[in-house]
Formats: sequence, structure tokens, C-alpha cells
Amino acid sequence: MNPSNIQNLQESLQARVTKLGIDQIHRHLFLCADQTKPICCSKAISIDSWNYLKSRLQELNLETQIFRTKANCLRVCEHGPILVVYPDRIWYHSVTIPVIERILQEHIIGGQVVQEFAFWGDTSTSKTLEIF
Ligand code: FES
Repeated sequence: MNPSNIQNLQESLQARVTKLGIDQIHRHLFLCADQTKPICCSKAISIDSWNYLKSRLQELNLETQIFRTKANCLRVCEHGPILVVYPDRIWYHSVTIPVIERILQEHIIGGQVVQEFAFWGDTSTSKTLEIF
């Protein structure tokens, strides 16, 4: 790639960063949902969790600080839906609608990992969102 193309690429991607607010993200949630091969839970349960996550982030006005991505499979493939919180690197199991609500209230807003459903990561520490 020549320097001119690299410059154009960087400028184009920087515009996307600004447009999407990537520089404002505090956390990114990845949820196993709507899987091609639903193994960790039923597709219906995963889609319910995904839809709830989307709507609650909107209701809580957290969409600009908390990004979400629907992952086809996070490779754990049991006791799902599986959700991982970055950059905290906390992995959760059994992430049904009530568990999503707890993760949002206790972990994302309150800064306390939901120990009962966390199965990997440093569960002793987290940070509250700076906006709260
Ligand atoms: S199918 Fe959910 S983690 Fe693999």
C-alpha cells in the first residue's frame, strides 16, 4: 500500500471513529446470540437476551458509552447465553434477561462484578462508569 493510500485509509477510518463515537466507549459487551448453531442455549433465549440488552442500553441512555455486539458464538458453548465485558475481561454464563439487568445495574453502572454469574476474569475489581 502506498503512503497516499495509507493516509486516505487513516483519514477515512478516523472519520468513522468520530461518527460512531468509538473514542467515547467505556465498555464493549459481546453476547452469544442468534447463533448459526445454538449450542450454549436456545436461539430464542439468546435473541430475547439480545433484544433486552439493546432496549435497556437505550432506556438507560448508555448507547454512546457501552457498545454491544451480537457474537455468533463465543466458543464456550455451554450454560449460555455467554456474555463478555471488555475491557474488564469478565465472562458471564446464563445471561438471561434478569441476569442482563443485574449485569447492567451492578457491574456496568455500579462497578461490582455479578459474582454469581461470572465464571472467568478478575472478579474482585471493576470501575464504575465515569458518568455516574
Ligand atoms: S453457542 Fe454460545 S458460546 Fe458457542
